[in-house]
Amino acid sequence: MLTHFTPLDHLLLKCQHFWRFEPFHESRSRQHRFANTPLATWLDGLSASDAHTLKHDVSSVYQQLQTFIPELKDIEPLVALEHSSTMPLELDSHLATGIPGRKLEQITAMGSQALSAHSGVEWLEWCAGKGFLGRILAHHSGQSVTSFEWQQPLCEYGQAEALKQNLPVTFIQGDAFHCDHQHVFNNKQHAVALHACGDLHVSLMKHAMDHQLAALSIAPCCYHLIQDDQYQPLSSLGKQSALTLSKSELRIPLQETVTGGERVERHRYQEMSYRLGLDELLREELGLSEYQPIPSVKKSQLQLGFIEFCKWAAQRKGFELPDCDFKRYQRLGEERFARMEKLSLVQMAFHRPLEMWLILDKSLYLQEHGYKVHLTEFCEKKITPRNILIHAVL
Ligand SMILES: C[S@@+](CC[C@H](N)C(=O)[O-])C[C@H]1O[C@@H](n2cnc3c(N)ncnc32)[C@H](O)[C@@H]1O
Repeated sequence: MLTHFTPLDHLLLKCQHFWRFEPFHESRSRQHRFANTPLATWLDGLSASDAHTLKHDVSSVYQQLQTFIPELKDIEPLVALEHSSTMPLELDSHLATGIPGRKLEQITAMGSQALSAHSGVEWLEWCAGKGFLGRILAHHSGQSVTSFEWQQPLCEYGQAEALKQNLPVTFIQGDAFHCDHQHVFNNKQHAVALHACGDLHVSLMKHAMDHQLAALSIAPCCYHLIQDDQYQPLSSLGKQSALTLSKSELRIPLQETVTGGERVERHRYQEMSYRLGLDELLREELGLSEYQPIPSVKKSQLQLGFIEFCKWAAQRKGFELPDCDFKRYQRLGEERFARMEKLSLVQMAFHRPLEMWLILDKSLYLQEHGYKVHLTEFCEKKITPRNILIHAVL
């Protein structure tokens, strides 16, 4: 896998025009970046239902787009990962208490992999939240777990649960970026980090190297939650690369979401088309040339319809709504939504390649520091799209 970094790097650099944009904003004009090309003709020819079907079938997207972006012919082997061969753990009901459905599936899948590839004689659960994974590892291995977490209430909840279940778990409340290292790390630990965001999983890798941790199992997420303005590559190859990624571009791989069913999709359609419609209204009626970000909105507010949404947004943002043809702006919003969805299909072909580039940069960095690295998909994408596990053993 690690040899895939360079070809992926070249492909992403060569194809920047196809992924380095925001479909929400690009949808403003029919004269978007692909206008007057065979790709635009193909996009225009897609029905809403075609676009919807393709959105859930990335292999077809790769195939169909190859005609317009020949580099995609080589993409599938570069992003394919071995699926985990271990069975998810079977849990006693008391261990599963309080763990929400999808989180439980993630934890039993990741826990099973961490246990089957365990190295070391104790565990460190990094950015532990309520410590669900740590308790399961303590129960199944009988080994002690240090659960490190920032939020005091989560530490208290997790510690109380561990005591109730008589498990050898100790919570340490602290900040990943400023912690008392002697109390947290030692070289007998196998560290696990399920969905530790951006800089948090990077900080674990750095601590692991400083303290020679025996093993790491990391499922990264939220790549954009970093302190710098741009991604800071870690590996030598990453540092040599000309690919730069801003915080907003680091969100691109996260656009791949789990399908939430018909109700969730209907709600998204309504919200996005209202936002886009209001954008059109503000530009045309008030002459605003910049996009006005509107805060998050409750479902109950959306249910009141487009005009009420505009009134609500006007009140929140302090602008005066003109008397205008709201129906027309609602329709323009719906048209923009359709265009945005089609433009997103092009960017979608690069979600996983971008994520793999980030994952491989981190993996190469671990390898450069003496770790043997193995990459897998620890669960199906429908359980979480952030399903890549970096497993590293010293
Ligand atoms: C996405 S949650 C994952 C929690 C848990 N691993 C899970 O999968 O359920 C990330 C966790 O990191 C914690 N966190 C955020 N910033 C932190 C910091 N600076 N130091 C330690 N933990 C932090 C948050 O409080 C949160 O519990």
